[in-house]
Amino acid sequence: MSRTVTIIDNATGKKIECPVLSGTNGPDVVDASAIYRELGMFALDPGFLSTASCRSSITFLDGEAGILRHRGYPIEQLAEHSNYLEVCYLLLYGTLPTSNQMTDFQNQIRERSVVHEHLLRFYSGYLYDAHPMSIMVGVTGALSSYYHEALDINDPDDRDLTARRVIAKMPILAANCYKHSMGHPFAYAWPELGYMENFLKMMFTRPHLPYETIPLACKALEKLLILHADHEQNASTSTVRLAGSAEANPFACISAGCVTLWGRAHGGANEAVVRMLNDIQHPRHIPKFIERAKNKSDPFRLMGFGHRVYKNYDPRAAIIRKACHELLNELQGINQPLLDIAMRLEEIALQDEYFVERKLYPNVDFYSGIILQALGIPTSMFTVIFALGRSAGWIAHWLEMVADPDFRIGRPRQLYIGSEKRSYVPIEQRDGPARKKRS
Ligand code: CMC
Repeated sequence: MSRTVTIIDNATGKKIECPVLSGTNGPDVVDASAIYRELGMFALDPGFLSTASCRSSITFLDGEAGILRHRGYPIEQLAEHSNYLEVCYLLLYGTLPTSNQMTDFQNQIRERSVVHEHLLRFYSGYLYDAHPMSIMVGVTGALSSYYHEALDINDPDDRDLTARRVIAKMPILAANCYKHSMGHPFAYAWPELGYMENFLKMMFTRPHLPYETIPLACKALEKLLILHADHEQNASTSTVRLAGSAEANPFACISAGCVTLWGRAHGGANEAVVRMLNDIQHPRHIPKFIERAKNKSDPFRLMGFGHRVYKNYDPRAAIIRKACHELLNELQGINQPLLDIAMRLEEIALQDEYFVERKLYPNVDFYSGIILQALGIPTSMFTVIFALGRSAGWIAHWLEMVADPDFRIGRPRQLYIGSEKRSYVPIEQRDGPARKKRS
């Protein structure tokens, strides 16, 4: 007999059976769609603590066990053995590519690694000190205006081309944000270079100076992008899905993803971590910051700590912590003080009852900012790097959603707590009787 969950309305005695669905891994899910149909009620779940918004076969994560897998492959294996472009392929198509498929994919990305010259003019509309994420929101959205010939979301070939365009153009848009902030001329991708080498060179090359690829930097960034490539139904991915569910232009959906990612509680945290570590200045000041984080009347939170889903440890944090140590050892002495503060902060927080009780562990962003800073990437660009990595997940989820036979507009409901019906009062009758002025 198939499993169900019974919901009984105590007031009317009406009873419904909701089917229980099982996925490949993870908790079973109650199909709640009958609640409104049968009982005329909605389910309330602020922050989506208990709500699965869709079926997905892209990423599995178990917050209690600290597991993250893409298409079944553990993140630890992907971070160790794969490269970002291969992970993009995996997220988009569900399998690891054969060498022919990989070569073809790389060629297709290379072919599309350019943006329309007119799009480059958008950058000049922003002040040199505009936050790069505000530029990303604009320029990713602006991509919507170029590819009319292949925007039929019901055509699998159009969808595929759109996905490849997103992967190919994001590094250019991201690198140009940096170039604009520095007042340097934009650079164009080099056909003989790989994805990561191209991205770093587009950012850091200067026309009048020699540029040398630093393999260590490429390797560190590669790992970082793999770790950020997807993370199930997080806030920005859910935003992309919701915008896409309205059949919005997919490039505009990526822009919507950037908007959400920019938030301090999401992708903006890596930037906030480095600012916090700089504010702490010295390990001896840590207790003061810990006390602030615990004080409920102080809005300060320990940035890079805590996660909605990981209540044991963030597997990405374990990988990035190791990578951070390796990189800083190899680069020798580059901003070591920041790492020292981070390590001491982690140590103190993990022994503090407040953090232990609430299962607050370092998340992926706790160490990623230190790596990016060591690579010479300015703090304001950190979330842009996150967006570059996550764009693979965003577009993979968009592809999955649009091809889903259950595809329909996302339209949550609410518990209305506003005013009862009342009658319109003309403006001249709203002020009440005029009060007499005191003499
Ligand atoms: N510092 C101090 N207290 C915290 C922190 C923190 N970083 N995070 C959570 N808490 C407390 C919170 O005040 C609450 O305490 P109480 O039960 O006494 O009211 C309790 O822990 C549970 O917190 P919550 O806000 O209900 O947890 P949430 O799941 O809604 O929020 C979070 C998750 C990531 C937004 C939050 O932990 C946070 O703001 N962390 C700092 C920002 C950060 O590092 N974000 C990056 C997330 S990982 C990258 C990504 O995926 O985007």
